Amino acid sequence: MERKVKLFLWLMVIGALSYIFKLTMDLQLGLKTQDSNIMWSIFKLENKESDFIEGCPRDVADSSHSFELFKRLFKVPCEPVRSKRSPWFMKRFNASIQPFLSPLSQGIVREDFDWWQKLQKNDISYEAFLDFLRKWDKVLPNSELLFKEKRSICTSCAVVGNSQNLNGSGFGKAIDCHDYVFRMNRGPVEGFENDVGTFTTHRFMYPVSATKVPPGTGLIFIPFKMSDLKWLNNTLMKVSNEEKNINATERKKVIVYNPAFMHYVHNNWGNKKGHYPSTGLFAIISVLHSCDKVDVFGFGQNSHGAWPHYWDKRYKEKKGQGYVHNAGNEREMLERLKDNGIIRMFGKT
Ligand code: C5P
Repeated sequence: MERKVKLFLWLMVIGALSYIFKLTMDLQLGLKTQDSNIMWSIFKLENKESDFIEGCPRDVADSSHSFELFKRLFKVPCEPVRSKRSPWFMKRFNASIQPFLSPLSQGIVREDFDWWQKLQKNDISYEAFLDFLRKWDKVLPNSELLFKEKRSICTSCAVVGNSQNLNGSGFGKAIDCHDYVFRMNRGPVEGFENDVGTFTTHRFMYPVSATKVPPGTGLIFIPFKMSDLKWLNNTLMKVSNEEKNINATERKKVIVYNPAFMHYVHNNWGNKKGHYPSTGLFAIISVLHSCDKVDVFGFGQNSHGAWPHYWDKRYKEKKGQGYVHNAGNEREMLERLKDNGIIRMFGKT
């Protein structure tokens, strides 16, 4: 009898301690979220708060945050989403291909080069291409390093597409609470803060867009042809290039997407459909290879199958993306990634 009472008392103590711990967590989050809008509260209700606790809102994501501290002290392991045992995912995922160009990844095989060379007007031999990359090692010493440091035990990343489904979403705070926020091309932040947030760590850009990178933001440059690489090379080699907006400090933040990885995304994730994948699909897959948790915002066509931008009202009338990308296939792929628990997707596709 006495043993039962003791057991009961112990259970009470453990229960009380857990409750106090949770109250502390709630208080910390509550204090910071008092000024949040209704959409943010709904977002937290719809998604497990624990999934966001390490990074939401951003200013409690430092080591003083007791949950972070608790996880560090007790070395709570983080299981990256890419290690999930989904047979469908594992069949496609290939960890051995590096998303970004580096001396290590420069062994681009002929098959990858042949595919890449046909994307846009290219007139360079395989040998000359490899020679160019070899010389480039000095210019891009750390290109393979997407993250200089791990910001939390589980690195959370938001990939923000340019879809009009962001309009009125109120996702801004949810986006900003990630450790890393990846945006695309020239998707603006100013004037759209409530829906797209303000925090940006990197921008995926194809060459036409890459001339205007906001200071402090990492540029992930997607090359489609040899002249893109040459253009970037010339720009980076100059000490300062105000006109192109990549100055000496900023060039350290340049990362170049690996053409071999582009081929892998096209084959394994684009199902070889369309001419080549969209910037958005390139972004999501490379981020999946790098981050522990991946949340996707701003992906979705309109009812005509067009891809209107959140800032562009006139775009509404345009239809389809033609032969270049296969929007239908990409949508299906994102749905499957979501259904397999690999990404979380916010907003209607
Ligand atoms: O148009 P842009 O390529 O700059 O947009 C970035 C990415 O966002 C696209 O490549 C596409 O993957 C995604 N997007 C989308 N739906 C839209 C607009 C863009 O899924 N309506």
